[in-house]
Amino acid sequence: MTQAPGKLAQAPAVPHVVTELPGPKARAHIEFDHRWTSPSLPRAYPIVPVRGDGCTIEDIDGNLFLDFNAGIAVTSTGHCHPDVVRRIQEQAATLIHYAGCDFYLPLFAETCAELARIAPIKEKCRVFLGNSGTEAVEASIKLARFATKRQYIVAFLGGFHGRSYGSVSLTASKSKYHAGFGPMLPGVYHAPFGHVADLKWFDDVLFDKLVPPNEVAAIVVEPIQGEGGYVVPEDGFLQGLRAICNAHGILLVADEVQCGAGRTGKMWAIQNWDVEPDIVATAKGIASGMPLGAMIARESLMTTWGPGAHGTTYGGNPLACVASLETIKLLEGGLMENATARGDQLLAGLRELQKRFPTVIRDVRGIGLMIGVEFDTHQRAEAVQWASFQRGLLTLGAGHAVVRISPPLVITEAEAAVGLKVFGEAVAEVAAKA
Ligand SMILES: Cc1ncc(COP(=O)(O)O)c(C=O)c1O
Repeated sequence: MTQAPGKLAQAPAVPHVVTELPGPKARAHIEFDHRWTSPSLPRAYPIVPVRGDGCTIEDIDGNLFLDFNAGIAVTSTGHCHPDVVRRIQEQAATLIHYAGCDFYLPLFAETCAELARIAPIKEKCRVFLGNSGTEAVEASIKLARFATKRQYIVAFLGGFHGRSYGSVSLTASKSKYHAGFGPMLPGVYHAPFGHVADLKWFDDVLFDKLVPPNEVAAIVVEPIQGEGGYVVPEDGFLQGLRAICNAHGILLVADEVQCGAGRTGKMWAIQNWDVEPDIVATAKGIASGMPLGAMIARESLMTTWGPGAHGTTYGGNPLACVASLETIKLLEGGLMENATARGDQLLAGLRELQKRFPTVIRDVRGIGLMIGVEFDTHQRAEAVQWASFQRGLLTLGAGHAVVRISPPLVITEAEAAVGLKVFGEAVAEVAAKA
């Protein structure tokens, strides 16, 4: 992949760390931030980004970081891809807002049609546009209940679906997301995730002891768990869920918010197993950083509800729509292939690293540019994330002891090689203290 020339293109080789980290301006800014922002924000480590270009982030002190994080798997086309920027700038000078839910914005329907075109579903689809992943999941819960006239929803232990009340009720990656907020949405059950043998739980526990299958509206699953630790299910697991859904008239909802939008080398992660869902929730990488969430559903489901059943003022904002249309073009125009090639390169390099540090690195897993490196302890994973940051490489923890590697899909072979080298040095430093 060649990278389009951008504003940091003439910068020195990245990473380029020129201050201690965090630097003086970052420290001052963080003090300011902590006076005004909600303390509920989790804040992984003290990076204060001010500019981005491709896979590079510049912080407030002028340090250049290689971004293996993409703003939590969001900037799929790289930071400020020139095509995306141009479309947003043109659109901002034309029309910024006019409530696609109450009026007929051309871009709104064009984006819905484009998302329906790329859906991993054979039946013609229709699309609901919101602003975020959690809204896409909320819409899926509402439509599933409405269309089936059933109440119960099954999600998975280790799953993450967002933080508004419906989606956080499905979330079961960490108990802190529920702490102090109960009771959650009633009628939600959590199944074990990932192994074909786990599917017995549905017959042996759920349907036998808790609720009859004909009262279950939907099974909501991340085809690859994200926040829960980048967990790839066994082959046969998602096929098994589809079979359970088929047997009992239950809807299969794929939460592709983190794993979709080309990240695994296919548009949708569930396509790695040739499984067709009934509803797809997408957000994050689908609009390169503009806030867009979408629920894509089979037309026969979507046409069960009528005007007023669901809507939102900002969903399908014109700026988010043009960003999404441009993003889809870029994903189909080579970025998905790049995700596969660079993913193979990174997985191979990380597996070599695991051979060097087998007691510290427990597992390296993933598909395409959705890679998890599991360490022996939570503290070790945190220490590697910190040591990477100190060297100018941005990563992010997930699950209990996993560091996730989810760079922009524009990452070049050279950038992947540099990132591997820096990550290896970080692991070596942490392993030496073990
Ligand atoms: C799989 C998944 N679903 C839903 C969400 C919620 O998305 P948002 O933060 O945009 O509300 C996330 C966010 O990380 C996610 O990873």
